[in-house]
Amino acid sequence: MKVFHTVEEVRKYVNQKRKNDKTIALVPTMGYLHEGHESLVKRAAKENDIVVASVFVNPIQFGPNEDFESYPRDFERDCKVLEKAGAAAVFNPTAEEMYGENFTTYVNTTGVTENLCGKSRPVHFKGVCTVVLKLFNIVTPDRAYFGQKDAQQLSVIRRMVRDLNVPVEIVGCPIIREKDGLAKSSRNTYLSEEERKAALVLSQAVKLGQEMVADGEKDTMKIVSKMKELIEKEPLAKIDYVEAVDLDDVENVLSISDGKKALFAEAVYIGKTRLIDNFITE
Ligand code: PAF
Repeated sequence: MKVFHTVEEVRKYVNQKRKNDKTIALVPTMGYLHEGHESLVKRAAKENDIVVASVFVNPIQFGPNEDFESYPRDFERDCKVLEKAGAAAVFNPTAEEMYGENFTTYVNTTGVTENLCGKSRPVHFKGVCTVVLKLFNIVTPDRAYFGQKDAQQLSVIRRMVRDLNVPVEIVGCPIIREKDGLAKSSRNTYLSEEERKAALVLSQAVKLGQEMVADGEKDTMKIVSKMKELIEKEPLAKIDYVEAVDLDDVENVLSISDGKKALFAEAVYIGKTRLIDNFITE
């Protein structure tokens, strides 16, 4: 697997592949890879000739009191995981390479960014959209793969791509879970043994919500309040939000209507660690 640290190197590589008519996939990550990321790379490798993954802890998507400094990093291990999963190249730039001196251009996607995580993390999606658009411009992929765990991120990226006519197909991939249900996340490594057990309330609430939907409940408020009740029983859990929104515009919905996908999303602090999980109605 090729390892690139500069924009110039990775551009040269993908341009060469393009000349040979290869299809190119991008899997953007912040590293510290788990089976969720692995599943994205494997799927990308099945559907494209060349998979380029990026490993970059993007400073501009973290707020001042968030975990940018402590975000787990292990590039050597990431490379092994990526190569095994089928990546042909990894792009691992420094912050200086991505945001040199006098960087002043940001992508501000409105509306879809204002609810859920956008409320509690005000600079987050501006940072995500800016880095993702930069990665699209650098790697020029035919397809880009993102996990459904960050469901709002996926809706925001789809909107940005649509609004700015970015010539890339966005592929959303299912949430990968631990055996006991906890959604895989690099941030799970922050949890103590006791918190790890407490964190199960997130997937339990998701399961409860899914069961209510399967039983025919259409009233989103009833579903959300039962999910909240379950989470509130866990002493180590503190709810940031549990909400039902339209998957496309991320605006709150009061009832599940046929033909429109609703996203039930939750963010919950377990101790100091903020975790997210969700499910989407059929
Ligand atoms: O989902 C992530 O890991 C990040 O938000 C992304 C898409 C790699 C942008 O930094």
